[in-house]
Amino acid sequence: MKENQTQVTKGIAVIGLGFIGLPLALSFAMRGARVRGIDVLPELIEEINHGVSHHLEQYNGMTIRDILKEQLQTGQFRATTSYQEASQEVDTYIVTVGIPVANGAGNYSYIDSACSSIAKVLKKGDTVIIRSTVIPGTTEERIAPLLQEVSGLVPGEDFYLAYASERIAEGKAFEEFENMPLAMGGINEQSAQRVKEILTIVTRAEVTISNIKTVETAKVIENIQRDVNIAMVQEFAKFAQSFGIDTGELIKVANTHKRVNLLVPGPGVGGYCLPNAFYYLEPKATELGVSLNLLKRARDINDGVPNHIVTRVEKELGTLVGKKVAVLGLAMKDYSNDDRISPPIDIVKVLQERGAQVLAYDPAVVTEYSFKHSNLKDCIEQADAMLLLAMQEEFRHLNWAEVIQQMKPNAVVFDAKNVIAKDQISNHVTLLKI
Ligand SMILES: NC(=O)c1ccc[n+]([C@@H]2O[C@H](COP(=O)([O-])OP(=O)(O)OC[C@H]3O[C@@H](n4cnc5c(N)ncnc54)[C@H](O)[C@@H]3O)[C@@H](O)[C@H]2O)c1
Repeated sequence: MKENQTQVTKGIAVIGLGFIGLPLALSFAMRGARVRGIDVLPELIEEINHGVSHHLEQYNGMTIRDILKEQLQTGQFRATTSYQEASQEVDTYIVTVGIPVANGAGNYSYIDSACSSIAKVLKKGDTVIIRSTVIPGTTEERIAPLLQEVSGLVPGEDFYLAYASERIAEGKAFEEFENMPLAMGGINEQSAQRVKEILTIVTRAEVTISNIKTVETAKVIENIQRDVNIAMVQEFAKFAQSFGIDTGELIKVANTHKRVNLLVPGPGVGGYCLPNAFYYLEPKATELGVSLNLLKRARDINDGVPNHIVTRVEKELGTLVGKKVAVLGLAMKDYSNDDRISPPIDIVKVLQERGAQVLAYDPAVVTEYSFKHSNLKDCIEQADAMLLLAMQEEFRHLNWAEVIQQMKPNAVVFDAKNVIAKDQISNHVTLLKI
């Protein structure tokens, strides 16, 4: 359904065309807004303007590539590296550039640079919306002063400024931009109302308006509560293993209680959002003198899962030195091609450190790794162990008995996804689960 939204905004520039920015930009374009996507990577802009995207998103039976091609053809959407060029055609800027975390510290340089570039082309009456996940306080304490200093314009007086958290899950982006309840806050009431009007071009769900600091903090703790839930379940899983009961069954039974919602333990917690969340809250908590002991412990437990999994496999094999180990699935979660902060990659590194020869297979992940192979058979043949760590569409159709038959007769199989049944495989094979 295409509606003419030109009355709400002259045009929207979406800054950062990654996992969030590209589908968000297209979501506005599909609904009739003129959208210009901005990214600093010229090769990415080139690809996008040729209708190429590696994301695995889809909407109403169309892949993101189909949607991109359609919006390029109509001219509703175009990508550029130039803020100057985009500024001629828009009056709204939506920032989706991240704050990556390295060694526990957030790197503000990308978001600072994006906001400074916006400020250089900002005009009176424009609107700036921050949708990146940030360290609480960032919009008012860092971004607003930066925009003001570089543009010479006053936020709230000369231009509208708001923070709106981004809650979607990769793989469901188009549907969730539309249907996920939205939380946002403006630097003043006029900003909040203006931004609500713009965001509801796409969002049909309930919009909660609060103050900016609360919305920034809520976004971070929404992610942290999942990190802590998973850490808790990892401990329940260790208990279940020692007690001789099945972890999946244990969680299923506990979740029949209407007020219990345990998540499923996996090979660790990955992706851009959950592992970073604690490191977004921590600096502010330190500044305020607030202790986050439980949350830190949860983070450490989740970080320790790859090591724990490798130790279990090593124990079964006696040693990993010189052993051929197949790893299936390198993405940070099932049915994804995102391998940023990916527990399977951490597991590969630990396996290698302990002397294993790792051959990994993932048909969706595009990143090249020295240990990644394009053929499952090469990885699995005569392998001493196999670890299934992330599901991909192709894996759903595998006959696991046939796959495992190609391994050594006394192989060890670690099934982190709970898809291989013991009665499917030879008695000589050791099957481990989370
Ligand atoms: N990926 C998710 O599932 C998800 C979900 C909710 C929220 N978020 C949040 O959304 C934000 C974006 O995440 P993402 O996964 O899309 O990241 P991403 O790394 O896929 O995309 C960010 C893009 O920004 C570009 N960029 C960097 N500096 C720039 C600049 N100065 N000007 C223009 N472009 C610039 C990068 O080249 C990159 O293409 C992050 O804050 C993240 O925490 C992500």
